[in-house]
Amino acid sequence: MSFSYKNKFLFAEAVSIRALVEQYGSPLYVYSKQMLCEAYQQFSKALSGIPHHIHYAVKANPNLGILSELNHLGAGFDIVSGGELARVLEIGAPTSHIIFSGVGKSPQEITEALLSSIGCFQVESWPELERIQSIAARLNIVAPVAFRVNPDIAIDSHPYISTGLRESKFGIPFEMALGYYLQAARLSHIAPIGIACHIGSNINNLAPFDQALEKLLDLFKQLLKHNLAIRYLNLGGGLGLTTPIQAYGQAIQSRIQDFKQAYPDMPQFTLILEPGRALIAKAGILVTKIEYLKTMDQKQFCIVDAGMNTLMRPALYDAYHEIIPVYQDQEQEQDPNRIAQIYDIVGPICESGDFLGKERPLSVRMGEYLAILSAGAYGMSMASHYNSRPLPMEILVDKQTHCVIRAQESYRDLFAKEHLIHLLK
Ligand code: LLP
Repeated sequence: MSFSYKNKFLFAEAVSIRALVEQYGSPLYVYSKQMLCEAYQQFSKALSGIPHHIHYAVKANPNLGILSELNHLGAGFDIVSGGELARVLEIGAPTSHIIFSGVGKSPQEITEALLSSIGCFQVESWPELERIQSIAARLNIVAPVAFRVNPDIAIDSHPYISTGLRESKFGIPFEMALGYYLQAARLSHIAPIGIACHIGSNINNLAPFDQALEKLLDLFKQLLKHNLAIRYLNLGGGLGLTTPIQAYGQAIQSRIQDFKQAYPDMPQFTLILEPGRALIAKAGILVTKIEYLKTMDQKQFCIVDAGMNTLMRPALYDAYHEIIPVYQDQEQEQDPNRIAQIYDIVGPICESGDFLGKERPLSVRMGEYLAILSAGAYGMSMASHYNSRPLPMEILVDKQTHCVIRAQESYRDLFAKEHLIHLLK
């Protein structure tokens, strides 16, 4: 565990969180390089028995500092926009290790990706494939593609992040996949090389992954019969934070080994995973300052300087994030300003939905700091300027050192791209 208390103060590796927040201000995202590396290595180890490649889902946390650490570790990248492509190119990642997912790729994004020689487009509809074919033909490039199939598998997660069901907008219906592949293989500038799926996010039960993999293997078998040279099977991301990466890897390996035993003559393929949350969530915390403790008739509020603008997950998905004090008062010191209560921890944003945690027992005082845990994924990447609050800084800690991976924004940055309109009178 790289976030731990030393002499009552919370540390990231060997760096004091209090010292960081006093130096840089709050709210502040702090990441542990060690935890990120460990999570990546757990994935590699869990899949070591089969040819595999891990493509980090950039959307979870697209900071260049985080991307470049993952690039050094050997990860590829799963992107969903031209902006994410630009980030991955900026850190100098090998372009063949880039996979482009997403239902709405624009002509410009497809062109940029083709010109960058990315490794694979994950295609989500027939009109998208036709668009890729026509742009690729114009550029005289052959586009490597995988169809993202929708395996119609229910998962136990928030409906907003369940993507593998028939009624969702993602992927192509499983039953239509074979026909799509056969048609695609006839197109002049399309090379089908993989099969992909992504059934949703924050999944802590292994059965849906196993069912999805079974379906991918079944389709792989069918495509081989039609002489389609499929080399990649992509199971997507989606692993939640309470299931060990080891167990997930084991389930995948045993399904693939069973398949290989049943069909020993099948050609080799590489398994691809696209984890986001499971790689970076636990490696990040959000540090926030307690501005006020406020007593109302029914409730005690702990009003902090981070809100739904800084970490949107509680407001949007009712997500639970553990919240702990940066200074831990275990002995209940004799401090009249320190009040042990059940608090709703809320932000400064003018919306009742602006909360970070509800009914949490805390012993705190104004001016102290709290740390919101498992905030490394979909924290900063979903942060906004709502209520005209600058985005927080981000710090990456490495043992006893740290570096600023996102600098402070000024108020001027908030409106730097805006223009005053001088109407003619
Ligand atoms: N691959 C594809 C095609 C995806 O759409 C996603 C996530 C991933 C991989 C990575 O999934 P992960 O391993 O991180 O679960 N904002 C939500 C999560 C949305 C996930 C969207 N797609 C949240 O804060 O929980």
